[in-house]
Formats: sequence, structure tokens, C-alpha cells
Amino acid sequence: MEPHISKFVNVTKVTTHVLQEMKHKNEKIAMLTAYDFSMARLLDKAGIDVILVGDSASNVMAGHTSTLPITLNEMIYHASSVIRGVKRALVIVDMPFGTYQGNSKEALSSAIRIMKESGADAVKMEGGREVLESVDRILSAGIPVMGHLGLTPQSIHKFGTYVVRATDEHEALKLVEDAHLLEKAGCFGIVLEKIPAKLAAQVSSEIKIPIIGIGAGPNVDGQVLVLHDMLGITQEFSPRFLRRYNNLSEEIQGSVKAYIKDVKTVDFPNEREQY
Ligand code: KIV
Repeated sequence: MEPHISKFVNVTKVTTHVLQEMKHKNEKIAMLTAYDFSMARLLDKAGIDVILVGDSASNVMAGHTSTLPITLNEMIYHASSVIRGVKRALVIVDMPFGTYQGNSKEALSSAIRIMKESGADAVKMEGGREVLESVDRILSAGIPVMGHLGLTPQSIHKFGTYVVRATDEHEALKLVEDAHLLEKAGCFGIVLEKIPAKLAAQVSSEIKIPIIGIGAGPNVDGQVLVLHDMLGITQEFSPRFLRRYNNLSEEIQGSVKAYIKDVKTVDFPNEREQY
């Protein structure tokens, strides 16, 4: 497949300013999650603009059924592994549940730990007005913050379900208001998850900072997917917005089965594979 020629291909390090420039020049931003050194290195070499060390690590790396259990120490471990594999991409780290909702002082010390101990470029937090004080405090310490609105998985027990958010007028109005508040506070971007495409397009045209969608339609400034979902490593999760680019679960299991057979039949190691 012919690679898309990006106007930003010569950028040696993607910064929040580069993302703003991409929005300005109508270049879509490509973002994926990663949680470890080897995958992050592959993504970076392939030219991904942004890597999110998502708290989806709680699901895809640790096997929990929600993002709530992952800890700050675990996120820092994943983030520092990712950072060691990345030269060009902007690396954003999710602040895990319980590390910023309590009070803004605690939020700031969580964000400082992430930045100091992992070497990340920015943090991401879920919520609008409710977390604004924490957003303000983190930003005033010079740490770039990305917002996250719509389906915010850390609030799954409040929502009760993973259905599309902001389909009613009240929730849609709150979402638009929250997006304006986050922009005014100084966030460098916002993720919009699983909301109607028309609403996402409205936010993206009203707001000057980059809007990254996941299940938010095409009329936003970029897209993000969970790496293990788009590679087909996970199979159970199949929302409408997910495009699978591979079926790695089958490929990996095929390779493992071939290896088991070779070991059992003493086909492996052969003469050239020994000393
Ligand atoms: O944790 C995550 O992977 C995320 C994306 C789904 C945006 O927040």
C-alpha cells in the first residue's frame, strides 16, 4: 500500500504545537495506544503522530473488565517503557482513576509523578467542569493536558452501559460547554469518545484546539484506536466504530501451534539451530 505523504513527515519530534499546526493545515492526526517498548517502537517507526499510554492497559494488558483498577505506579511503568521506544511521536499518558478526581493538589502530584518518572510529553484526564480545578492546577505547573469527553470509561459505573453518549439535548449541551471550558483552561486537545458524528463535527468546528475522535465520525481533527483492538489481538470487543486492520490473534495462535508441534516432534531445533 502506498503510504500517505504527510506535510509533517520531516518533523523530528511531534509536540502539542505541531498538533495545533496540523489542525490549522487540515492534516488529520493519527493516534494509537501503546503500553510497552516493542510496540511503541514499531508505531513510532511507522510514523504515528501520537501515542496514548491509555488506561485501557487495565483491560488489554492486565485483563481487568474496566479501566478502574489500574494504578498510578502501573501507568508509570507502561509509560516509561513506551517512552524508551519513541523518538518522534508525542506521548500522552492517561491519569488513572482516583488520582485526580479527589482534589487538585493530589491531581498535580499525580501528574508530576507521571512526567518525572516516565518522561512523557503530556497527560490526559476524563471529564469537563468536574475536573476543571485539577486541569487548571496541572496546566499552571507547565504540564500539557488533553481532555476526554463523551463516553469516559472511568465513569462506567455511573453510566451503567457503554452505549453512545450525548444523544439527548441536555448531555449534548453539557458536552459542548465542557469542550469550551477545557479549551479556555488551556488544554491542547480533547478526545471525544462514542458520541454522534454530527455533535463531534460541531465541537471540532467551534473549538480551535485539535479534537481526536474514537467513535465520533470523520469530521474531527484526528482518530484514535486501541492498538490491540485494531490489530485483532482482542476479539471480544467489536463496537461499530472499530476497524480491524489485522487478525493477529489467529496469526499468533497459528505460530504458537506450529512451535508446539515442532518441539513435540523434535523438528526444532534442527542442525543449524544448535551449537
Ligand atoms: O485508554 C484509552 O485507550 C483511551 C482511548 C480509548 C481514547 O482513553
